[in-house]
Amino acid sequence: MKHYLSVQDIDSLDHWVEEARDLKEDPKKHKNLGSDKTIGLLFFNNSLRTRLSTQKAAMNLGLEVIVMNFGSEGWALEYADGTVMDQGTSEHIKEAAQVVSQYCDIIAIRAFAGLKNKEEDEAEKVLNGFKKYASVPIVNMESSVGHPLQALADAITLAEQNTKARPKVVLSWAPHPKALPHAVANSFVEMMHLQDADFVITHPEGYELNPEITKGATIEYDQKKACEEADFIYVKNWSSYTDYGKILNQDKNWTMTPEKVGKAKFMHCLPVRRNVVVADAVLDGDRSLVIEQANNRTYAAQIVLKKILEQ
Ligand code: CP
Repeated sequence: MKHYLSVQDIDSLDHWVEEARDLKEDPKKHKNLGSDKTIGLLFFNNSLRTRLSTQKAAMNLGLEVIVMNFGSEGWALEYADGTVMDQGTSEHIKEAAQVVSQYCDIIAIRAFAGLKNKEEDEAEKVLNGFKKYASVPIVNMESSVGHPLQALADAITLAEQNTKARPKVVLSWAPHPKALPHAVANSFVEMMHLQDADFVITHPEGYELNPEITKGATIEYDQKKACEEADFIYVKNWSSYTDYGKILNQDKNWTMTPEKVGKAKFMHCLPVRRNVVVADAVLDGDRSLVIEQANNRTYAAQIVLKKILEQ
């Protein structure tokens, strides 16, 4: 059974991007592919883009859509085997996943990192629990360690906007008042490993991402130097990975400004905190691609669902 759990599930990024761009020209081209089938979107965390774009993509393919805010409206799930469930959890993932599989032909899940315990987060208990016990394909709508639908949308946006054989692409950390997960940055890095690009990651010391994911990428601790001659600058906050889930620094000097962006195109997955992560002048300027990125979330989801329906 084909799942879409990480960027590693993309067998050919170029072909998927090409197919997604083709779908964008005619989104209803396969409007009967999902007829008589249902997708369940289970949200353990908030969302705007992922929820609406995945729903839109499913509707474009003729799927029926069930959406549940599982985190606030579902029973608290137990994930461990053999637990005496006399505490806070009411239902085991074993039953929940099998039950939802009877109502849905595809299950898509959003379940963020808790950022308290690295091992627990990396075990991906929600995503992997559903994968283990469900009898239908699973789609990752952002898990503890990855956001592969966002990365695929970003790849589509890069392909649409790029004019060079080997563009310079910078992933820059930026300050944020809250501790945020690593998922978007991780998947962006994984996706960039599949691209022919001069790829540079910049962040303050202490904000190194998982070295297994960044292996082979250039890391530059001087943000201004990293941004020189960039064609694309992708900005994102994440909390420390080594000092897991901690905010080590809120240095406003790392806020993205028009001076640092220069002639590059600016990218961010949204939602974004204005004048903390990035200056108004960048977001409101003609170098910002954030609305195009959000639009491409639909076609990223649609190509993933299409491939699952066609298997
Ligand atoms: N970029 C993104 O995943 O947006 P939402 O959190 O609003 O879904």
